[in-house]
Amino acid sequence: MAGDVELSQALLYARELKAVYESARDRERALSTLYHRLRGAHQQALRYADELKQLYHRMQRATLQSLLGLANALEARDPYTLGHSQRVAGLARRLALAVGLPDAPARAVAQAGLLHDIGKIGISETILRKPGPLTDAEWAVMRTHPVVGARIVAPLEFLSEEAGMIRHHHERVDGSGYPDGLRATAIPLGARIVAVADVYDALSSDRPYRRRFSPGEVVTQIERWAGQALDADLASAFLTRLHHGRADAAL
Ligand SMILES: [Fe+2]
Repeated sequence: MAGDVELSQALLYARELKAVYESARDRERALSTLYHRLRGAHQQALRYADELKQLYHRMQRATLQSLLGLANALEARDPYTLGHSQRVAGLARRLALAVGLPDAPARAVAQAGLLHDIGKIGISETILRKPGPLTDAEWAVMRTHPVVGARIVAPLEFLSEEAGMIRHHHERVDGSGYPDGLRATAIPLGARIVAVADVYDALSSDRPYRRRFSPGEVVTQIERWAGQALDADLASAFLTRLHHGRADAAL
């Protein structure tokens, strides 16, 4: 009799254990299904994020292309500056890399080089192409271009650093430049780099009011302006790393 009771008790436990086991197994299956769904959703979200990122980069490139189109339109108005922005961009990028800037900041400096004079788009051709010295009033107009250029790119968040470089590319390290009269390292590094490349290319090109300087004269001018208009270390790095040994070659 007692044996029958123990047996039925044991059977009861076994049934309960089986029920607990089956319930745990069902929960595990449900959790596993949920996990796979979540993983699928996570991967889908990652794909969406990736597509969004690509779309954002495509939009950035398209916007930049439009700005470059604007810069090219500007140069087309003035044959003397044809190719100037491209050359300044290339030189500025190489100088940035030569003084140790990593790739991404050097690319930003190059972009600022491409767009540095975009603010001249609003300046009349009579001033831009004047074959002689500008009057004070004309200079006042000409000096607005860094601020106008910075304003053109300011709404574009991905060009925020470049906007600063564009605004300050005519500052001079002795504080006598424009628009803000910044001195030395208060001038953004990228703006000081673009300034060296800009001056070098301007001296090496014909202008409506003068012929290009010879390679030797270009070096003399840059050395003279080092520490006054141009950052001395950058001017020196430019001459030693980028210029010497290929004075008569297109840099
Ligand atoms: Fe300029």
